[in-house]
Amino acid sequence: MMPAQMVETPGPDYVIDQGFERYTAEEHEIWRTLFHRQAEILKDRAAPEFLDGLSGLGIAAEGIPHFERLSDVLERATGWRIVAVPGLVPDDVFFRHLANRRFPATNFIRRWDQLDYLQEPDVFHDIYGHVPMLFNPVFADYLQAYGQGGLKALKLDSLPFLARLYWYTVEFGLVRTKEGLRIYGSGIVSSKGESIYALESDKPKRLPFDLLRIMQTDYRIDDFQDIYFVIDGYDQLFEATRPDFTPYYASLKTLPTIPPGAVLPGEREIERI
Ligand code: PHE
Ligand code: FE
Repeated sequence: MMPAQMVETPGPDYVIDQGFERYTAEEHEIWRTLFHRQAEILKDRAAPEFLDGLSGLGIAAEGIPHFERLSDVLERATGWRIVAVPGLVPDDVFFRHLANRRFPATNFIRRWDQLDYLQEPDVFHDIYGHVPMLFNPVFADYLQAYGQGGLKALKLDSLPFLARLYWYTVEFGLVRTKEGLRIYGSGIVSSKGESIYALESDKPKRLPFDLLRIMQTDYRIDDFQDIYFVIDGYDQLFEATRPDFTPYYASLKTLPTIPPGAVLPGEREIERI
């Protein structure tokens, strides 16, 4: 056993112990606060699959989840587990985890003064934001395929293109439902301000999902997004990304980059709600 205050050094896969016993009452309180705020906002804004995942996995208000216990439930549903990492990990390490149905989650939580915004992922973003969608079988397969695609994109020197796909789907995706647009992107669901803005503001553009268009589009990491891409369902994601990307990357290398807020001639924006 290690002394409680000693932080484990990560191995080559960057996996550490979550250190569940080390969370303070105050850290659990931060989780509870974030959880309650989002529950109120997301009940009629998040995708039904996200809300189902949240309740199906028993991700609750009471405090920061115990990764091993949560993984046991998740693994029975879709074969995924959560592993703790100390923060962002190198690309190849990240992709190898995903390709093996392991989701790397940061173990620390933000501070009170970072409740509304923080640039790096924390345990609230990683667990509350990402894990519920992994309860959905189609999305679970998509993320594994993405991990395999990441390893391939590295070899083809094309990671920036593939990273845009992750950004505009996994992190900032919207989905069309019978009740209107809903959020499934983890970067949105873990942010109070963006959960409202993504659906209700007039400012951002909303375009139908288009794989190559997305891989051509730059994104911003310092503010709410200027553009969102809307899928009709998770099968669309899975099917559109099934082909070999090698020829796509070759043509993307010859195409110009589209700035985040641009709508091109002939593109039709999707109506809000
Ligand atoms: N089919 C892609 C390729 O051949 C891999 C991929 C799958 C990428 C799913 C993203 C999502 O590179
Ligand atoms: Fe994320």
